[in-house]
Amino acid sequence: MSKPEGSEQTAPHIPVLLAEVLAALSPLEGARILDGTFGAGGYSRALLEAGASVVALDRDPRVAPFAAALKSEFPSRFSFVAGAFAELDELAGGPVDGVVLDLGVSSMQLDEPGRGFSFMREGPLDMRMAGEGDTAADLVNTLAEADLAALLFAYGEERKSRRIAHSIVAARAAHPIATTAELARLIEKAIGRKPGEAHPATRSFQALRIAVNDEFGQLVEGLFAAERLLTEGGRLAVVTFHSLEDRIVKRFLDPEKSAAPQSRHLPQVVAEAARWVEIAKARKPSAAEIASNPRSRSAILRGARRSAAAARPVNRAGLGVPNARGAA
Ligand SMILES: C[S@@+](CC[C@H](N)C(=O)[O-])C[C@H]1O[C@@H](n2cnc3c(N)ncnc32)[C@H](O)[C@@H]1O
Repeated sequence: MSKPEGSEQTAPHIPVLLAEVLAALSPLEGARILDGTFGAGGYSRALLEAGASVVALDRDPRVAPFAAALKSEFPSRFSFVAGAFAELDELAGGPVDGVVLDLGVSSMQLDEPGRGFSFMREGPLDMRMAGEGDTAADLVNTLAEADLAALLFAYGEERKSRRIAHSIVAARAAHPIATTAELARLIEKAIGRKPGEAHPATRSFQALRIAVNDEFGQLVEGLFAAERLLTEGGRLAVVTFHSLEDRIVKRFLDPEKSAAPQSRHLPQVVAEAARWVEIAKARKPSAAEIASNPRSRSAILRGARRSAAAARPVNRAGLGVPNARGAA
């Protein structure tokens, strides 16, 4: 297959845990599957090749050439819509037998300096997947110091968040922080760098990306939309890339198991019918997959089958969604 236009400068995204995702969504022949995170279309292609029909979604308009290429190969079984999880109900076009969400950023987003996702590449401090709304530069240059620290701590689990926020606020008094490299250098100077450890800006960049794209809000909307859209017996597969996301998915699928123990002095809450059954054990990439695609190393796949119980209203409470004052 020839490469879609616009993809020449960047390596395409390598799909993570692909065989495991396909197994979690099976049987696929004749099924209608929603790929909520199309990216370069790695999952969509494999699902189509296995005989499924695919409705694909992505909030990043730059994936359009990849979607067009797949449309020309599978005109009757593939369709693509641009949009975000929060619009899934309208965009899905009816009930589905499977939903797959592969969270986080694609390699195309990460590798293009102009998108501003990577501290390894000099570029504008942007990080917007959909190219609209506030940029990461807007956040670092306008949030109050305490709010910035709260954001870095809640969304990046950055223990040195206060020191970083203090340095950012001191630096921006001289001139606004405009680039990825500038912010990465500033963070390194603020908290130091230990040999053998991840770059000191890793956690802060994760936190800013989550805030810029409202990734937790979107995830919650996407999970509850999947609950509404899936037919009885339909399958959900979600791939996450850090513990904060994984905790949300785990609690969503199995609220009983992850709920705090009830006090025996309070009235007992009657157990609700489970919306999800056959909840699979978390799957991680093999050593061989990590060796051939290092970006897969933190991936965790969770899957389950939809029961007949009515879908719940959207509810963030109890899912362990981190709260950051002043963030989106
Ligand atoms: C990790 S990539 C998916 C890669 C894809 N599975 C493949 O094999 O090529 C994640 C994609 O999901 C998109 N995305 C992330 N959050 C989204 C959301 N809330 N709504 C729609 N698309 C989203 C991103 O723009 C990105 O293209």
